[in-house]
Amino acid sequence: MLTLTDIAEDPLILTRGLRLRDASPAVLRPLVHADAERLADFLAGLSPESRRLSTFDGYDFAAARELCAAIARYDKLRLVLEDESSQRIVGLFELSLALTASDIARYRAAGIHLTERTDCRFGPTLADAYQGSGAGSLVLPFVTEAVRLLGRSRIILWGGVLADNARALRFYEKNGFQLVGPFTGPHGTPSLDMILPLTGHVPPLPT
Ligand SMILES: CC(C)(COP(=O)(O)OP(=O)(O)OC[C@H]1O[C@@H](n2cnc3c(N)ncnc32)[C@H](O)[C@@H]1OP(=O)(O)O)[C@@H](O)C(=O)NCCC(=O)NCCS
Repeated sequence: MLTLTDIAEDPLILTRGLRLRDASPAVLRPLVHADAERLADFLAGLSPESRRLSTFDGYDFAAARELCAAIARYDKLRLVLEDESSQRIVGLFELSLALTASDIARYRAAGIHLTERTDCRFGPTLADAYQGSGAGSLVLPFVTEAVRLLGRSRIILWGGVLADNARALRFYEKNGFQLVGPFTGPHGTPSLDMILPLTGHVPPLPT
């Protein structure tokens, strides 16, 4: 089983080349320390609406540096999507191997027993210009591959999805996420819990 330390030591383990819908080349890979400036550009470029739908602690260089400083130190794996033609970070896909007490309680009330042996949290964010372009669906199989390699078999949404986030809801539904139930988010926002059970063959580690 892969660990976050293994990935930080050899990011190539989880580096995959992709083609975006317009056939331009892109790479999905773990965030690395050298990314702080480019990650800051990505965060700073998010529109107010994107920031409402997907919230970060900050949107500047300090916030980006914090995310880079957290590499392999806590429970998070952050994958970035890089558009090869511009060399810009155009997506951030976050996984957390830790669960919160409130997640566990909400899912238990819905009859689902979450554990840190089986479950992890996931939150995707694309740059505004890349939203609705199929990039999220292109990346998701690589995220599920990473989750399997980390030894987990289900993915829940990190903090749920806002109930009015129609595009994200469609994205999750078409990619197999199941609705668990509604809840009220930290700022009184109507939100939904969703879960994706991973099934099938566990791919071998790339050599
Ligand atoms: C959520 C997100 C990662 C999905 O990635 P994506 O590349 O946009 O998703 P896809 O293009 O693969 O799929 C989106 C689907 O929603 C549909 N869609 C787009 N806008 C929509 C809208 N306003 N209402 C309903 N459906 C919509 C698309 O047509 C597509 O469905 P289809 O393939 O059946 O036509 C991306 O949109 C994003 O980063 N959004 C902003 C941040 C965010 O909301 N993050 C999630 C927080 S929980």
